[in-house]
Amino acid sequence: MPLSECLSFNECGFLWSPGPGRKGVDMLISSPLVIKGRVFPNRCSMSPMVPNCAGEDGSVTEAYRNFYLARARARVGYIVLGGVYVHENGKGFPRQLGIHSDAVKTGLSELAQALGKYSRVGVQLSFKSLQRLPEDFKESEIAVCRKAFVEAAVRARDCGFDAIELHACHDYWLNFFLSPHFNHRRDAYGGSLENRSRLLREIVRDIRSAVGDSMILGVRLSMEEFVEDGLTLSETLQVGTWLEKLGVDYLSASGGIGKTQHRMSPPMEVPRGSLLYLAEALKRSVSVPVIGVGRLDRPEVFRKAVEEGCADIAGVGRSLIADPEYVAKVLDGRDEDIRPCLACNYCLLCLHRGEDVRCAVNPLVGRDLYRPVPLRGRLNVLVVGAGPAGLAAAAAAAERGAAVRLVEKDAVPGGMLNAGKVPPHKEPIQEFIDYLVKRAAACGVEIVTGHAVEASDIRALAPDRVIVATGSASIALRADGLEGNERVVLVESLLRSGRISTGGRYIVVGGGAAGLETAEFIAENGGSVTVIEMTETLGRGLHATRLNLMLENLARLNVAVMPNTRLVSVDGGAVRAETPGGPVVLGPFDTIVMAVGYRSEATLSRGLDPRFAATVIGDALQPRSIYEAVKEGFDAAVALKA
Ligand SMILES: Cc1cc2nc3c(=O)[nH]c(=O)nc-3n(C[C@H](O)[C@H](O)[C@H](O)COP(=O)(O)OP(=O)(O)OC[C@H]3O[C@@H](n4cnc5c(N)ncnc54)[C@H](O)[C@@H]3O)c2cc1C
Ligand SMILES: Cc1cc2nc3c(=O)[nH]c(=O)nc-3n(C[C@H](O)[C@H](O)[C@H](O)COP(=O)(O)O)c2cc1C
Ligand code: SF4
Repeated sequence: MPLSECLSFNECGFLWSPGPGRKGVDMLISSPLVIKGRVFPNRCSMSPMVPNCAGEDGSVTEAYRNFYLARARARVGYIVLGGVYVHENGKGFPRQLGIHSDAVKTGLSELAQALGKYSRVGVQLSFKSLQRLPEDFKESEIAVCRKAFVEAAVRARDCGFDAIELHACHDYWLNFFLSPHFNHRRDAYGGSLENRSRLLREIVRDIRSAVGDSMILGVRLSMEEFVEDGLTLSETLQVGTWLEKLGVDYLSASGGIGKTQHRMSPPMEVPRGSLLYLAEALKRSVSVPVIGVGRLDRPEVFRKAVEEGCADIAGVGRSLIADPEYVAKVLDGRDEDIRPCLACNYCLLCLHRGEDVRCAVNPLVGRDLYRPVPLRGRLNVLVVGAGPAGLAAAAAAAERGAAVRLVEKDAVPGGMLNAGKVPPHKEPIQEFIDYLVKRAAACGVEIVTGHAVEASDIRALAPDRVIVATGSASIALRADGLEGNERVVLVESLLRSGRISTGGRYIVVGGGAAGLETAEFIAENGGSVTVIEMTETLGRGLHATRLNLMLENLARLNVAVMPNTRLVSVDGGAVRAETPGGPVVLGPFDTIVMAVGYRSEATLSRGLDPRFAATVIGDALQPRSIYEAVKEGFDAAVALKA
């Protein structure tokens, strides 16, 4: 089935609609579950994720501990520490947690104890075999790795964890062996499903006999790999029944591999709950509890996963990065207080760059136990500009006790996000604007819209501090025929107007994220579109999970995307461009959409009396993205002194 087709509906038949949805504590999702005599306080689990903030030697750091502690304290029933490596050779990220040696045991024991006060805690035992496929492993090496898994499991038990989960999905070593796509061995570990699952079954058996019967043992599988010659659901259902017979206590139903990562951590382009059909199918064929996952990032879909029987336990990953209190808020019915995950996959982008995981919407990741420090005296703060930077700064400053006035020149807050929310699938951006505005108001910020602040206003108001969050302005491309050309429009103006003429001919100049999304928007609304991009890189800054889907959708919509193509001049509606094959004339076009980038707009801060101690943040400092805007807004508030 072509990808675009499978993404256009939900295979589970689990169609999410924002219906009334029951709330409150009487629901199944908030009821306890007992496995091996251990009580899970509710049916909500934190999916395994590598926050990439452990020590370089794999040890527990304060940042790592606090990341999980903030979530455990907020009522997550079951926390699975993500991708913990069992052997030095199976380490996949520079600051991944390890359980590979006795040297890390003290830190792990303390962690198990700290988290165990609040949640049941499991360790996901993992081995990432970078660039080495099953056929590259000699039997002697397999034996070494097998032993490493067993030793790690014993360490997990000795450190006081409740559970061990085997990482047998997403391109990890055990997944490689299971998968006909990766496993081309011709011995007892390759070929038939029985052979491909042999290693996993052997490790399960070894671990069970080493740790005894009281420890919970789970396995996480990529139930489908979504590649032509990959693992299929019928195969993994069979594996699930074999594992149950071997005494596995729960199964966790994920999906996808590296190539199909948009299935593993579905971006905003993929419908919510799209993997739940895998958990539902598994639940029908085994009797042990099953964890379901995959963009359960709004309370309705999260609750329904359990209430409607798709899964015994609902797993969330990114929603808990975005809001550590996601589970507590869902259980208490405080849905409207949730800081919404955008499914933008900026967190994965950080991980894949080898950096500590950070979140576009939550500036506290990395300092997870932050508590606002009250200011020592009264402080009047003027924040100029109500984009994400200004809104984040204003709320955090007011939370510290400052008297904050936030002034925005537009009629509505949100800044550039009011254009950014328009392209297809970007509704979560509006929800984030709503969250920011609501939070600022709740913290006591006075929000004034429809007034452009000038230097004279600042002198008249005489605040103690000014935070300049005035964003950016489009770069004007200089080329013959552009100036005064009525066909030329800026990308943000086009998006804000939302008007596309059906059958209209459009060219988008600039193939960055904004240009590509805008092309998608135009094409979805009946325009015909060409995109030209001067460099060879398309969608700069987008995670591959989003970029690949976007390019696929653009191809489906017959959008011509031309990298390495530089606009030279315009003649009416015709565009002359330079391509690697020589000069071309494109068009004619009815509309020429400029998406060539932004320059910071912070003129207000220049020449301002130093007594206002102005701080420039977000795009006003340098045009970037929501992550920097929110982080710098928050940092500016934290740095305030009375
Ligand atoms: C089409 C498009 C799509 C995008 N999509 C994404 C995305 O999906 N993810 C992402 O991370 N980033 C995205 N971005 C980038 C993102 O929108 C910006 O990085 C972010 O909005 C910057 O926030 P900011 O608060 O610094 O500035 P802005 O959002 O630009 O806000 C600045 C505000 O200041 C106001 N202002 C300016 N001067 C004054 C004044 N004198 N007085 C009062 N108010 C003033 C402006 O009206 C504006 O509301 C997108 C950008 C565009 C153009
Ligand atoms: C930053 C990050 C790291 C992840 N690391 C792991 C991992 O170590 N092991 C694993 O099985 N899945 C990992 N995942 C996948 C998540 O556990 C989860 O299955 C996926 O993100 C879908 O759930 P969500 O939509 O609630 O985020 C990771 C996801 C993210 C975003
Ligand atoms: S970075 Fe984006 S996808 Fe990741 S948790 Fe934050 S909002 Fe969600």
